[in-house]
Amino acid sequence: MSTVVVNHTPKKNPKHPPGPTPPWPFGIIRQFQGQPLKKMEELAAQYGDAVRFRALLHFYGYFFFHPEHNKHILQDNNKNYTKLPHPSLLLLTPVVGHGLLTSDGDFWRRQRRLAQPAFHRQRIADFATTMTDATTTMVARWRDGQRLDLAEAMMHLTLEIAGKTLFSRDLTGEANTVGEAFTVVNEETASLSGKIFAYERLRLFPWWHSSKVIRQNTAVLDTVVNNIIKERRHTGQQKDDLLGMLMEARDEETGQGMNDEQLRDEVMTIMLAGHETTAIALSWTFYLLSQHPQIRAKMEQELAEVLPGHAPTVADIPNLTYTTMIIQESMRLYPPAYAIARFGHKPDVVGDYDVPANAVITLSPYLTHRHPDFWEDPLKFDPERFTPERVAERPRYAYLPFGGGPRQCIGSNFAMTEAILLLATIAQRFRADLQPGHQVELSPLITLRPKGGLPMILRAR
Ligand code: HEM
Repeated sequence: MSTVVVNHTPKKNPKHPPGPTPPWPFGIIRQFQGQPLKKMEELAAQYGDAVRFRALLHFYGYFFFHPEHNKHILQDNNKNYTKLPHPSLLLLTPVVGHGLLTSDGDFWRRQRRLAQPAFHRQRIADFATTMTDATTTMVARWRDGQRLDLAEAMMHLTLEIAGKTLFSRDLTGEANTVGEAFTVVNEETASLSGKIFAYERLRLFPWWHSSKVIRQNTAVLDTVVNNIIKERRHTGQQKDDLLGMLMEARDEETGQGMNDEQLRDEVMTIMLAGHETTAIALSWTFYLLSQHPQIRAKMEQELAEVLPGHAPTVADIPNLTYTTMIIQESMRLYPPAYAIARFGHKPDVVGDYDVPANAVITLSPYLTHRHPDFWEDPLKFDPERFTPERVAERPRYAYLPFGGGPRQCIGSNFAMTEAILLLATIAQRFRADLQPGHQVELSPLITLRPKGGLPMILRAR
């Protein structure tokens, strides 16, 4: 938890961001339920780059959409902004506890230092063969004309890869269990996020867990995580994967290792954060390619030139420039982490506006990525936006699929390597077309999924 001390005198005439002002004590929190992204888009269209709204009673929320705001909050003044107790993250703690994603301060810093070596570039290069082997095996089972839920296939594949690379454990047998339990947790947590009393209860009584459904499904996920840890302890093997690093880590001062609860929280966090987001990024990419045959053909041309007759290796990645740009552009339009939550402790000035102490703040990669001042024709799928020259013309924080500042995604290199290798390996053998008549809709849960999966038809190449 944060150690920031709040000591402030409120300004006499603060300049608040504009926003809806329903008569007291009403607020607009319920309008976010089920459609948080749509509501956020409406507010951005109506009020601009910064919005303040009354959620309910005396609870206010702040949205910031401008790259400069993102930079200020995530990087320049990051010490003022923590994760907890932002309501959205608090609601995640019954599932992921206080792992890397949901911890703060010195505790987070120590855990991040311990985990970091597992994500070193060289390490990730070593994982590349596991990534392509798992994909080649999956693709070998696919048939021309086969119908499948591509989103589900990507979830299974990335879970298998996360298990093998980070925990040296084959999780293919648990893929359905994890997938189903996590989907329910995801949906249920998202549905609670419009209910102030649910997170006030959790804030005041952390032991009073949220819904029964979340408890039951977390127990299912716990069994998988506990088995991963138990099996490693049982064999007594010392492996130099992420799990081994976390288990062998000792506190510099006390010499103590992580207790079971900390270890469980980290493994759960990495298991979930380490597969779902990349699977979603790939799903949106295949969807966009199915809608843009010319871009797909150009990618296939690159694959033929760079990889004549062989599966991609990590050495090929620098030459797969167009394939890489496709993934970047896909994460611009559909960033899997479509919102980033922060709790501002001291009063601050963000852009032109005053923000008081204890501010509940949400940034949105989804909306920043569609900001017309930084993206010409923002709704167009155009991978060429990511040529080095055009990237250099944009502010760094106009594009933030992996966040930024010290809390930037620890798995960003892992994810990019994985996404490029998986896309290239699959696209060498198959095209995926959307099943006729299926309307793709957004499902903004904790992450931005395609609603009801992604039914596609495979065409062998
Ligand atoms: C396309 C795939 C991915 C996307 C879009 C993504 C996105 C993000 C974002 C936006 C954050 C920052 C959240 C914040 O500032 O509040 C984050 C943090 C994190 N991500 Fe990822 N991520 C991806 C893949 C991965 C992978 C593959 C792993 C692990 C193997 C991972 C593990 C984590 C962890 C542990 C954190 C918390 C880091 C910290 O606070 O120190 N992510 N991710």
